[in-house]
Amino acid sequence: AREKATRIFDRDAGTIEASAYVDPDIYRLELENIFRRTWLFLAHETQIRAPGDFLATYMGEDPVIVVRQKDGGVKAFLNQCRHRGMRLCRSDAGKASNFTCVYHGWVYGLGGELVGVPLEEPAYGTVDRAAWSARPVPRIARYKGLIFGCWDENVPDFTDYLGDAAFYLDILLDRSPAGTEAIGGIHKWVIPCNWKFAAEQFASDSYHALFAHLSAAAVTMPDGSYSADWGGEGFQFTSDRGHGTGFLLDAGRREMLTAFVGPEVARYAMEEGMGSAIERLGAMRGQRMHAQHMTIFPNFSFLPSVNTVRVWHPKGPNEIEVWAWNLVEADASDAVKEAYRVGGLRSFSASGIFEQEDGENWVEIQRCLQGPVARDTVFHVGMGLGRPDAADPDLPGRLGWVFSEVAARGFYTQWQRLLADPDAPVIPSADHGEANHAAQ
Ligand code: FES
Repeated sequence: AREKATRIFDRDAGTIEASAYVDPDIYRLELENIFRRTWLFLAHETQIRAPGDFLATYMGEDPVIVVRQKDGGVKAFLNQCRHRGMRLCRSDAGKASNFTCVYHGWVYGLGGELVGVPLEEPAYGTVDRAAWSARPVPRIARYKGLIFGCWDENVPDFTDYLGDAAFYLDILLDRSPAGTEAIGGIHKWVIPCNWKFAAEQFASDSYHALFAHLSAAAVTMPDGSYSADWGGEGFQFTSDRGHGTGFLLDAGRREMLTAFVGPEVARYAMEEGMGSAIERLGAMRGQRMHAQHMTIFPNFSFLPSVNTVRVWHPKGPNEIEVWAWNLVEADASDAVKEAYRVGGLRSFSASGIFEQEDGENWVEIQRCLQGPVARDTVFHVGMGLGRPDAADPDLPGRLGWVFSEVAARGFYTQWQRLLADPDAPVIPSADHGEANHAAQ
């Protein structure tokens, strides 16, 4: 499978083999070499506010529990009892003083430490608590309200892992001195498609919006404001760590926000919340960049204008569980928060009209790939290939035009590099970065 991985994506030709999205051997390598080694999103700080608050989630296919500690810290550990492997916590979220396994009653503390064993003395004599505690997630990072974890204790620090992507991530996270707040519950739904269709689209694909979202945009935008010509002024950012984003500059921001999330959110974003955002982020990020989509490699994505945040949890090569929720500036009024929640429901959620258009495409691709001829083919990832990089003095990192696939190629370059070599550093060497640069 590793040998296969080295040829499945050809950056110079701008092609990827269809088997990347269905091959079970490739999928197993993804879990081992990518999801076990990179930083993965766990939770927002406000989803586990008080000591004992917990969230059960996944890192790849490994179930984990994320818990607020009594000292305000955050720990995460494998959601698996060390006695016989039962899922330790079967609630999605809640508040706990400890976690008791339902099978034979072993008890674990808020940090995953083994604290109780029924019949310990007569049955075992003693059980080594330290040796039989839940398996910890060794690295935890907290960045402007987001909590990430990594199974590899030697992974570079999260801010290094982000690199220039932090500049673009901050458009979502750093608009207000009050920070952000997760509102509403987490929408969870299962769709039959490979996780990379979703992650790559959010990294790199403004292109689909012109066509896939045409009808929804036309009916939701204010009367007379819809135009199929989006102006085309905008950029795409690609990272040698696989992160990517794209965004427009200036064109019809208020109308798009109104279409996506309604007039109250558009008013807040363009008036009430704008001053603080410009003060903190500068005019470029606070005001001009919009319709932004972004993926932090491998599977954490968001849309800053709609403020929908999501994780594409892989469930085999042919299925994902989407977890989506809304994020709002913490000091916004209750009315604005509610407007974001309702607007998010209407546009990007399990029932969202824009979400259907994305999911339907991914699902139908996956259905086609069940045929042996359909999966024995090659797809085009070559938009913008060979063109010079774009540049803007206000924007860091490597850029292309908003309608290109430079960020998709960056995503797959990192995907392939990690897939093919379990010892490859998560942050490529400078030499590799140069090679990237030479071959957009
Ligand atoms: Fe958990 Fe036995 S499997 S106590």
